[in-house]
Amino acid sequence: MSQESNDPLVVFMPSGKRGRFPVGTPVLSAARSLGVDLDSVCGGRGICSKCQITPSYGSFPKLGVTVSDGALSDWNSVEQRYQDKRGLKPGRRLGCQATVQGDIVIDVPPESQVHKQVVRKAASDRAIVMDPATRLFMVDVQQPDMHEPTGDLQRLISALQTQWDLGAITAHPRILSKLQTVLRKGAWQVSVAVHWSDAKGAGQILDIWAGLHEAGLYGVAIDLGSTTVAAHLTDLVTGQVLVQ
Ligand code: FES
Repeated sequence: MSQESNDPLVVFMPSGKRGRFPVGTPVLSAARSLGVDLDSVCGGRGICSKCQITPSYGSFPKLGVTVSDGALSDWNSVEQRYQDKRGLKPGRRLGCQATVQGDIVIDVPPESQVHKQVVRKAASDRAIVMDPATRLFMVDVQQPDMHEPTGDLQRLISALQTQWDLGAITAHPRILSKLQTVLRKGAWQVSVAVHWSDAKGAGQILDIWAGLHEAGLYGVAIDLGSTTVAAHLTDLVTGQVLVQ
């Protein structure tokens, strides 16, 4: 995306990351190009609400920005549909729907950050930064084409790589037994849980669901002591310990 010096300035808080983007750039795209921690599962389809942001208006002398009322595009029908169905907190917008129209300051609330800080009073007062090794991604998988014979798994992996830029991906063998059914049930739109056991290695597809998977992702942390074993069932999105 080419950036001109007279393009609107976008400042993300709390990171302070900033950049200039052409009018019409979705806030989510601006965040991605600056490496801002703004979540998305549905990839901008307006159905997961993970990309919620709060625009700020007025004068921000410390940031060197003045934000006018029309700095973001108008509330659109996708946001209205989400508002009617689930509701958005006052002042919130969907970052994949709101586009940049003028200089703007965008606050990314903790719920919209993948690497949010959580403090678990019950365990310790230490702030823990979330860095989940397993994340959800929604993709549209190309349908089979008799002129280009490829397998379902190959097309699923290629969708993850092109739509989410995920690099090398493998799949757990159990995926193969359900892949065909799930792809067809979801009309070729599926949610995929991908796990990375180390930051540089290939991601592994752990599970797949038709459409948008809204039931969350959970993990168990196990502490093996010399006499006791402690297990914590944890929500991998919010960082909340649900059972211990
Ligand atoms: S990215 Fe899913 S609603 Fe915006």
